[in-house]
Amino acid sequence: MRLFVALPLPGSARDEIAALLGRMKDCEWPVRWVRDEGLHLTLKFYGEVAPERLDVIEESIRFAVAGTGPLPLRLDALGAFPNARRPRVLWVGLDAPPALELLQDRLERQGEEIGFPPEGAPFQPHVTLGRVREGHRLPEALARLDDSYERVAFLATEVVLYESVLSREGPRYEARATIPLAG
Ligand code: 2AM
Repeated sequence: MRLFVALPLPGSARDEIAALLGRMKDCEWPVRWVRDEGLHLTLKFYGEVAPERLDVIEESIRFAVAGTGPLPLRLDALGAFPNARRPRVLWVGLDAPPALELLQDRLERQGEEIGFPPEGAPFQPHVTLGRVREGHRLPEALARLDDSYERVAFLATEVVLYESVLSREGPRYEARATIPLAG
């Protein structure tokens, strides 16, 4: 099973991004867009793991999360990996307190303890919107959509261990464990 741990986008932030996604889809860009219901901020990606490891992964997340309270976050500017000139992945950035980076680092270190190598790249909090189809480039700059959505502030109150289940319509994310950020 393919696993990752993430912060789901709650209510008003999810609605704002879902509306933005709707406008982006109307542009008919060569992009595979994500589903509205699965919008999330990935903290740690475990990749393909044997189902027997689910419990130990959940335990490591509980350990990493202990002591972290709800996190005040805010939607930020649009961005792209690897860069805005040749975008492959389109995302919305997040304005976050240092506690988010601390939590992500704790998840990396707990993951390492149970055999998952840490992410090489520095943590850049983002919500992926879509992936540019192989061999295509975007015809237009992202800039004109950047001021078309509200920088909604919200409180992240839980982390979720998701299983990514592949289907014909793309991946669907199923919650395997939900752990509150209870402080
Ligand atoms: P993303 O947030 O940048 O899109 C489910 O696939 C989640 O796991 C996605 O949100 C994705 O990151 C992340 N993910 C998928 N494949 C990955 C990989 N090979 N390395 C790191 N993260 C990955």
